[in-house]
Amino acid sequence: MGMTAVHARSSRSVLGIAGEPIERWRSILEHASQITASTDLVGRLVATAFFEDSTRTRTSFTIAAGRLGATVVDLSVGSSSANKGESIVDTARTLAAMGVEALVVRSALAGLPGVIAQELPELVVINAGDGRHEHPTQALGDALTIAEATDCPSFDLSNRRVAIIGDVGASRVARSNVALLTGLGASVVCAGPPTLVPRTLEGLGCEVCWSMDDAIDGADIVMMLRIQFERQTAGQRAIASRRAYRSAFGMTEERAHRLEEHVLIMHPGPTNRGLEIDPSVADGPRSLIKQQVTNGVRARMAVLAACLSG
Ligand code: CP
Repeated sequence: MGMTAVHARSSRSVLGIAGEPIERWRSILEHASQITASTDLVGRLVATAFFEDSTRTRTSFTIAAGRLGATVVDLSVGSSSANKGESIVDTARTLAAMGVEALVVRSALAGLPGVIAQELPELVVINAGDGRHEHPTQALGDALTIAEATDCPSFDLSNRRVAIIGDVGASRVARSNVALLTGLGASVVCAGPPTLVPRTLEGLGCEVCWSMDDAIDGADIVMMLRIQFERQTAGQRAIASRRAYRSAFGMTEERAHRLEEHVLIMHPGPTNRGLEIDPSVADGPRSLIKQQVTNGVRARMAVLAACLSG
């Protein structure tokens, strides 16, 4: 069976935002908005297995689990038996046999967390980003950030408009954010060059356009995305010209100055500074980038608490 054909849904695993009742996510967001350090997960065992690089997600899961008292095991993928040909499912099975209750997994393979969840129903699997598919906990941290920054304590975003700009087609962050933000009532428009933003993205429930300036007109939040150079294939470059891309689709200082006063700017990171976002904008007063990182920990605390409760 192809990995993308697997739609395993454990009641406790977090595999993706799409396809789940929005009330599940609203409940996690409400908990995240008031969560504090506790001993709720003392004696519980969480493992992280990152088969793709990460700074924010991996570290924030470790911090989140620690703030709830859980013990965290970080699988050193580069020196694990995966290098001897052990499958990722067998790796997960081995960790579960040692008492790991929740596995936080990142992989370039879209659908891999679903495969693990299907093979090991007793294990809570949390998707920390799978290929171009989903990055649900990033979206939860982002929705928390938007709700707090735009004064929507009830997570009703029906009067909010979010523009997602850049390499949307390759972006698991965009897929999860579109599903979550539209589920909470926001209108979402995705924009970028036609080579990176196919019209088929409309199927996710967002608008699609190919002009950044049209997309950000009327938006309350502009979420910039990284060009994912690591996902470009041999002989197929993501963009032909950095200068032309920045001019048409970059959040330049000049473009930021033209935004209405209330408009806020996000970026899930890591950033290509000077390409999709100017350094002065990333570090400027409209930027929510630091809050996104901070709220990523709170959202992951709430996810772990929800997954491991009971
Ligand atoms: N936003 C995000 O997923 O960042 P990392 O790749 O550093 O985890």
